[in-house]
Amino acid sequence: MIPVRALAAPTRQCLRTAAYQQPRWAIPTLQTRSYATPAPDKVAKFKGTKGSDGNYTVSLIEGDGIGPEIAQSVKDIYSAAKVPIKWEPVDVTPRLKDGRTVIPDEAIESIQKNYVALKGPLATPIGKGHVSLNLTLRRTFNLFANVRPCKSIAGYKTPYDNVDTVLIRENTEGEYSGIEHVVVDGVVQSIKLITREASERVLRYAFQYAKDINKKKVRVVHKATIMKMSDGLFLSTARDVAKDFPDIEFDAELLDNACLKITTDPGPYQDKVLVMPNLYGDILSDMCAGLIGGLGLTPSGNIGDECSIFEAVHGSAPDIAGKGLANPTALLLSSMMMLRHMGLTGEADKIEGAIFKTLAQGKALTGDLGGKAKTSEYASAIIGNL
Ligand code: NAI
Repeated sequence: MIPVRALAAPTRQCLRTAAYQQPRWAIPTLQTRSYATPAPDKVAKFKGTKGSDGNYTVSLIEGDGIGPEIAQSVKDIYSAAKVPIKWEPVDVTPRLKDGRTVIPDEAIESIQKNYVALKGPLATPIGKGHVSLNLTLRRTFNLFANVRPCKSIAGYKTPYDNVDTVLIRENTEGEYSGIEHVVVDGVVQSIKLITREASERVLRYAFQYAKDINKKKVRVVHKATIMKMSDGLFLSTARDVAKDFPDIEFDAELLDNACLKITTDPGPYQDKVLVMPNLYGDILSDMCAGLIGGLGLTPSGNIGDECSIFEAVHGSAPDIAGKGLANPTALLLSSMMMLRHMGLTGEADKIEGAIFKTLAQGKALTGDLGGKAKTSEYASAIIGNL
């Protein structure tokens, strides 16, 4: 169990007041808050600047297994498209420091300096005592929002060809706060922690993101009918934040209903950004990835106040590593999200157009998409379509 003193101050405060002092049977009053101070200019705005050589520097974590192969495709395509980016290779292999396993200081400094990183998959060793490096990175940089666009890919046949939605998952608390303990033998308790602070941050980002990508609606996915206090707080915070975004329509849907509806007909979700607490986002985003052809095609971004890390959602694929068979599309599309986060929209549109054209042509597809092309042949086809 995490000692209460190890938690962040707002979290501690929340545990003392909300969780422990409320009688269990209390019906929550959904508080409304008036935002006396104006909303910040932009949550998680990219702060990097170009160097004297005219390039932005981006930290590149190539990762394990197929990581270096798919990262090479990204580098080749970026260099052919003349994207103004200089890659700074970063090694995140954990080190022992003061008896604890930590990410090397140089890696942290690189990401802090560049504000942005592209990350390949990292293998988590099997066995006790290994903290996932992905989780460590999330915690180190307080990456509060996980963004997963889910869009049908022309040329890759799936049951639906009209999926086009974005899921934003609160990434730091909720059901994954790691506060678990044994009450008595045979009874365990796991605390779902929801704070107004973390909820407001991810919700504000979701509204801002919807505006940036011209989606008309933000929908909160929740279970406030059952988890009246925790999801209730998330929902009431959303209603407050929505007031600062009058151009964006806001509504809410129960999680179970959302799962049923989106798998029955994804069409009505096309104009929406869906935002939700941690566990719901974890499950719903993989379910939506299934609608577009699986994890191999799904990009993601982990957004933080200062730094953001963009990554493919698949793993290191040890079964095909080193064979030149990997599909680099997910990492490439993650890097498109990174370019747009950095304001390099023109470059992102150009490369993304070439990726989709190559997939639609279907002549140079990798094995996972039913083709015979090597990773490098697929990358060359994209370069040919730039
Ligand atoms: P995986 O995603 O690595 O592989 C599952 C299946 O999908 C394999 O058959 C693999 O060959 C295939 N696959 C995955 N990505 C592919 C690509 N780009 N192109 C073609 N085929 C692809 O999942 P698995 O095997 O469960 O995990 C392997 C390792 O990756 C584990 O150590 C796990 O902890 C780690 N992992 C890391 C993640 C991250 O860094 N974000 C996410 C998921 C797993």
